[in-house]
Amino acid sequence: MTRRFPPLSPKCPHFLHGGDYNPDQWRHMPEILDEDVRLMKLSGCNAMSTAIFAWTALEPEEGRFEFGWLDNVMDKLADNDVYVVLATPSGARPAWMARKYPEVLRVGADRRRILYCVRHNHCYTSPLYRRKCAIINRKLAERYKDHPALILWHISNEYGGECHCELCQDAFRNWLKKKYDNDLDHLNRAWWTSFWSHTYTDWSQIESPAPHGEMHLHGLTLDWKRFVSDQTIDFYLNEIKPLREITPDIKITTNLMGTYLGIDLRKFAPHLDVVSWDSYPSWRAATKEDVELASSVAFHHDLNRSLRSGQPFMLMESTPSVTNWQLVPKLKRPGLHFLSSLQAVAHGSDTVQYFQWRKGQGSWEKFHGAVVDHCGHENTRVFRDVAQVGEALKKMDCIVGTTTPAEVALIFDWENAWAIHDACGPRREKKDYLPTCVSHHRAFWKRGIPVDVIGMDDDFSRYKMLIAPMLYMIRPGVADRIEAFVRAGGTLVATYLSGITDENDRCHLGGFPGPLRKVLGIWAEEIDALYDDDRNHVVMTPGNPLGLAGESEASIFCDLIHAETAQVAATYRDDFYAGRPALTRNCFGTGAAWYMASRNEEKFLQAFYDELAAHLKLGRALDTDLPEGVTAQMRTDGSRVFVFLMNFAQEERTIVLGKGKFRDLLADKELPGRVTLPCYGCFVLERG
Ligand code: GLA
Ligand code: ZN
Repeated sequence: MTRRFPPLSPKCPHFLHGGDYNPDQWRHMPEILDEDVRLMKLSGCNAMSTAIFAWTALEPEEGRFEFGWLDNVMDKLADNDVYVVLATPSGARPAWMARKYPEVLRVGADRRRILYCVRHNHCYTSPLYRRKCAIINRKLAERYKDHPALILWHISNEYGGECHCELCQDAFRNWLKKKYDNDLDHLNRAWWTSFWSHTYTDWSQIESPAPHGEMHLHGLTLDWKRFVSDQTIDFYLNEIKPLREITPDIKITTNLMGTYLGIDLRKFAPHLDVVSWDSYPSWRAATKEDVELASSVAFHHDLNRSLRSGQPFMLMESTPSVTNWQLVPKLKRPGLHFLSSLQAVAHGSDTVQYFQWRKGQGSWEKFHGAVVDHCGHENTRVFRDVAQVGEALKKMDCIVGTTTPAEVALIFDWENAWAIHDACGPRREKKDYLPTCVSHHRAFWKRGIPVDVIGMDDDFSRYKMLIAPMLYMIRPGVADRIEAFVRAGGTLVATYLSGITDENDRCHLGGFPGPLRKVLGIWAEEIDALYDDDRNHVVMTPGNPLGLAGESEASIFCDLIHAETAQVAATYRDDFYAGRPALTRNCFGTGAAWYMASRNEEKFLQAFYDELAAHLKLGRALDTDLPEGVTAQMRTDGSRVFVFLMNFAQEERTIVLGKGKFRDLLADKELPGRVTLPCYGCFVLERG
C-alpha cells in the first residue's frame, strides 16, 4: 500500500530549504532586500521563516500598526518564488508594552518579577498579553491570508519556561480544583501530604514550587509541571484562534526543542498541524564523540517524527556553521553540513531550515552562524555548503511526504522523566533517563533498523517490539495495554527501575515492578546503587533463548529480582547477589517480556538487540553489516524505498550494499555493490 503524506503546503511540493529571516533588523538598509533575494536563489533556498521577533517593527506604539515594510518583503519574496513561514511575534514583546503593563513580564520561582529584557519570558496566563497576541495575530492573518508567499504559520518561538506570578498561582489552583473535583482531600491523598504534616486545609495554601519554598512534595512538583505544560499549550491555543478562523487552510507549527523537559511535547503535538524542531548538536570532529552524538540526534529526529505518528516533520532551525552560545563553537568540518542536514531528512524531515539567513550586525547573536556572513557575499565556504544542500534537495522531490516503516518502538515519556528526576533515590545522580533511552536506541541505529520514539499512551499494536527503558511511572491503563501487546505476540524489553510509581508518583504497593509484575514474571525485591567505579558482571546462562555467551559489565543500578514465571537468561557474577537473575524472559500469551535488571554496557545491549532483531526478522534499511560510525536510514511511500547511507566517522568506510539494486539519486547513476564513503560522506539511494 502506498502511503505518502501531503507536502507542507500545496503551493510548494518540494523540500523546504531556508531559514530564519529578520528583514526587520535591516529596514535602515532597504537595498539589502534585493541582495537577499539574489542570494536566496543562488543558495537554492525557497522558504524563509520571517518576522519571528518583529513585534516592535509591526506595532511601534500601542495600537499603531506598520505593515508596509513586511508587505514589501512578502511581495518581493513571492515575486521570486521564495515562500514565507510567517511568524507570530509573541516570543519577544515591545518595551512599551512591558513598561505600560508589567503583568506581561514573568515572575521567577523566587517570586521576583523580571525587568524588561531578552525574550521568551512572558507570563502565559496574563489576560492582557493574551489579548495583545490575539490582536496582532488577527491583523497578520487578515493582511496576509491570500498572500501568495504565505505557506505556513510559525507560532511564537521556542515556548518554554514558567511564570510564578499571582495570576499563574490562581490559574494553578483552579487547574488543581478541576483535576481533583474540588475535593482537597482527594488532592491530599494523591500528593501524600500527611508526610511532614503538609496537609492542605484550604486551596489558597497551595503555592507553586520555589527554591525558598516547597520542592520535595512530588505530587505538587509533578502537577506543577503538568500545569505549566497545559498553560503553555493553552496560551498557544489562544494565539492560533484567529489564524484558524481566518486562514483555515494554512498549516500551523511552532518550533519545539527536542526533548526539552519543560513542556510535555506529546500533549502539544496534537494541536500542531506539523511538528518542527530546532537542532544544535555540538559536533567534535572525533569519531567516538561524533558517532554517539549522531545517534543521539537520530533519536531526537525519530522522536519528532513519532510525535505525529510518522508524519514528516520540519527541521526548523540548525546552524549553517557555528552555534555561538555553545562553549566551544567549533566550525563544521567540510562535509558535515551536508551530512547533518541530510540526517534530518533521512529520519523524516521535509525541510532543512537554518538559524539564520543573514548575520545581524549587533547584539547577542552577531557571531552565530548564518548563510550570509558579515562580508555580505556568496564567496564563502559556508554559503557553498548551503548551496550544495539546496542542489541536493532539488533532486529529491520523490522523497517528500514519505515516512519510516518502524517495527520497533521505544518509550520516552515526559511525565516519567519528571518523576525520575524528582525521585530522591535509588541514586541521587546518574539516573540518566534520556541517555539510557538513547543508548538502547543506538543499538538499532548502528544496524540501520528504524525505530519510533513514542509515549506510554501511544498505540503499541503496530509494532513487533516495544522497548521501555526505566518505565518508573506507570499511569493507569498502561500495564493492561502492555500486557495485551505481549499477549498478542509482541516482544517487550523492560529494565531496572520500572513499575515503581503511579500517576501521582506514589509507589505501587504489593511488589515491584507493580502492574508489570505479571507480564514480566518477576518480583524486584531490592535495588543496589553502585558507586561510579563499582562494577558487577552479567553472565549469560548456558542454553539461554538468544544463544548468547560470555559476560559483560553492569554499573550504577542492579536490581535484585526473583524469577516468578520468567526464565533466567543471565545472572550476576559478583557480590552477595552473585548467581541471582540479571536478565529474564517471560513467555506470555504468544509473546515474550524481557527484564534487564542492571544497567549494562553497550556491548551487551548490542549483542542482545542483534539477536532479538534477527529472531524477530526486523526490517532494516540495508541487508548488510554496517561498519562503525555508519548508519543507514530509510523512508518509503510503501512502494519506493529510499536509503540514506551516512558516515559519521573521521575515516572513510567501505560498505557492501548487499542484495538488490541501488541507484544514487543525487548522481543519478546505478551504484556498484560496494561503495566507499569518505569522512562525513552521505549517499541517498533508491533501493530497487
Ligand atoms: C534558538 C532560537 C533562535 C536562535 C537560536 C540560536 O533556537 O529559536 O532564535 O536564538 O537558538 O542558536
Ligand atoms: Zn504569570
